[in-house]
Amino acid sequence: MKTYSLFIIFLFYFLSLSFPCYAAEKCNPKDKKVLLKIKQDLGNPYHLASWNPDTDCCDWYVVDCDPKTNRINALTVFQANISGQIPAAVGDLPFLETLLFRHITNITGEIPSAIAKLTRLKTVRLSWTNLTGPVPSFFSKLKTLTYLDLSFNQLSGSIPPSLSLLPSLLALHLDRNRLTGTIPESFGAFTGSSPPDLFLSHNQLTGSVPKTLGNMNFTRIDLSRNKLEGDISFLFGKSKALQDADFSRNLFEFDITKLEFPESLSNLDWNHNKLTGNVPVGLTTLDNLQQFNVSYNRLCGQIPVGGNLQSFTYAEYFHNRCLCGAPLPAC
Ligand SMILES: *[C@@H]1O[C@H](CO)[C@@H](O)[C@H](O)[C@H]1NC(C)=O
Ligand SMILES: *[C@@H]1O[C@H](CO)[C@@H](O)[C@H](O)[C@H]1NC(C)=O
Ligand SMILES: *[C@@H]1O[C@H](CO)[C@@H](O)[C@H](O)[C@H]1NC(C)=O
Ligand SMILES: *[C@@H]1O[C@H](CO)[C@@H](O)[C@H](O)[C@H]1NC(C)=O
Repeated sequence: MKTYSLFIIFLFYFLSLSFPCYAAEKCNPKDKKVLLKIKQDLGNPYHLASWNPDTDCCDWYVVDCDPKTNRINALTVFQANISGQIPAAVGDLPFLETLLFRHITNITGEIPSAIAKLTRLKTVRLSWTNLTGPVPSFFSKLKTLTYLDLSFNQLSGSIPPSLSLLPSLLALHLDRNRLTGTIPESFGAFTGSSPPDLFLSHNQLTGSVPKTLGNMNFTRIDLSRNKLEGDISFLFGKSKALQDADFSRNLFEFDITKLEFPESLSNLDWNHNKLTGNVPVGLTTLDNLQQFNVSYNRLCGQIPVGGNLQSFTYAEYFHNRCLCGAPLPAC
C-alpha cells in the first residue's frame, strides 16, 4: 500500500515535469514579432535582454500590455545604453499610447515617419537623445496626443504651425533644440479648451511673438534663450491664467511700467532683454510671486515698494539703466 501511494506521487511528479502548468500567453503574436524586430534593429541591446521569444511579451521589460486587449500600449526606454535610430517598426504597434525614448545619448537620426501610423498615441517623449532633422508635422494628425516632448535634441528647421490643431494637447516641449524661424501665428489658436504649456526655450527662434498669442490663456510659457524681439505686453493682464513665465535672454523691447498681472502669477523672468520703463506697480499686489528677475534690462526709476518685491535680491534688479531703491541702493 505504501509503495503504491509513493508510486502515484512519483507518477504525478514526473508528469508535472513533462507537462508544466501551462498559462496561456497573453501577448499578441503580431506585437511580439514587431518587438523582436525592434530589438534586432536596436542591435540586441542588453537593456532588452528580457525580450526572450520563449516568454510572454506582456511580461517583458519596458513594455506594457493593455489589461483588456492584451495589446502593447506602452514602450518606455529610459537611460539605456543603446545606439542607433528609433526603429521604424515602432509604427507597427497600432495600440501604442505611450512612446518614450529618454536619456539615451546615442539615439540619433530623424524621428521616423512610421510614428504617424500610431493614431492612439497620448504621450510621446523623445528627449535627451541626439535626434536630428525637423519636428515632423505629422504629429498634428495624432488627435489624442496630450503630451509631446521632443526637448534636448538637435532638431532643426521651423516649428510646424499645424501643431495647434491638436485638440487635447496639455504640454508641448520643443526646448533645447536648434529650431529657427518664428513662433507660428497659429499658436494663438490652439483648438483645445485651454492652450498647452508651451516650452520653446534654448532654440534660435527669431522675430516678434505673434499678437495672436494674446488670444490664448497660457498657464506656463517658456520662451527663454532665443532671439525673439518686440513687444509681448499682450501676454499679460489681470484676467490671464499665467503662473510661470520665462522670457529671459531674448531681445524683447517695450515699456513694462503699466502692465497688469493675474493673481496666479508665481514666476516671472525677464532677465537679459531690452525692457524700458519702471518695474510695474501692479506686481506689489501679487501674493503668489515667488521668483522675479528683471536684471540686465534698461529700466529706470524707483522700484515700487510692497508685496514681495523687496524680498528679491540685488541680483534680480541689477544691470539696469537707472533703477534704484530697495533692494538696490537708494535713489
Ligand atoms: C556612444 O557611441 C560612442 C561611439 O559609437 C561610444 O564610444 C559610446 O560609448 C557610446 N555611449 C553610450 C552611452 O552608449
Ligand atoms: C549627444 O551626443 C553628444 C556627443 O556624443 C553628447 O556629448 C551629448 O551628451 C548627447 N546629448 C544628449 C542629450 O544625450
Ligand atoms: C483665463 O483662465 C483663468 C483661470 O482659469 C480664468 O479665470 C480667466 O477668465 C481666463 N481668461 C480669459 C481671457 O479667458
Ligand atoms: C537673475 O538673473 C541674473 C542674470 O542672469 C542672474 O545672475 C541671477 O542669478 C538671477 N536671479 C535668480 C534668483 O535666478
